[in-house]
Amino acid sequence: MNEVLDVIAKRYSCRGFGSRPVSRADLETITKAGVQAPSSRGNAPWYLAVVTHRGLIDEIRDSAFAVIKRRDLEGHQRILDRGGDLFYNAQALIVVATKPTHDLTPAEFDAGLLTENICLAAHSIGLGTCICGFATHAFHVFASPDGERFSRRLEIPYGYQMTVGILVGHPVQTKEPHPADTSVIRFFE
Ligand SMILES: Cc1cc2nc3c(=O)[nH]c(=O)nc-3n(C[C@H](O)[C@H](O)[C@H](O)COP(=O)(O)O)c2cc1C
Repeated sequence: MNEVLDVIAKRYSCRGFGSRPVSRADLETITKAGVQAPSSRGNAPWYLAVVTHRGLIDEIRDSAFAVIKRRDLEGHQRILDRGGDLFYNAQALIVVATKPTHDLTPAEFDAGLLTENICLAAHSIGLGTCICGFATHAFHVFASPDGERFSRRLEIPYGYQMTVGILVGHPVQTKEPHPADTSVIRFFE
């Protein structure tokens, strides 16, 4: 198996990070891999805020958790079932924001490609990642009292929306990736 296929096969969602910080150089490497992703018409409709400020990461986590507790009973239960932690002690949070496009495919599609590039690049250099949809709750302008403040603090450009979070750190807990269900693939020859 070549290196790319090996990294794709072995990446997994890490839900336990150590307290060792992630270096600025590593964060630059993986976010650069992110923006090397393709996007519809080459629009690159994204903005990344790379947060390593401990206090700010914790504030975003707590705000997201408060919204989930109030508004997403099923999500709240899922978090409790996983031990009650939302960010798993991640040392960096990459906030991916997108500018809505009127293209055939939404900007979130492009953001997904960027996100997977970051996760694969991180895995290839020994870092763990977990894509975190729950983090978006913290930025919700109506549901979260802190939504506007977080967007300003992270300088999310006007008109862009927080789309997904990526948790990054040095793994202290590993797991097997999900089994690939190839039964959904059909060949027409
Ligand atoms: C858009 C998206 C949002 C996700 N949000 C969360 C999340 O908030 N918390 C979490 O622990 N995992 C989250 N995940 C991780 C998935 O649960 C995980 O990718 C899936 O169970 C497959 O497991 P694997 O990544 O280890 O192969 C998210 C994944 C995606 C693609």
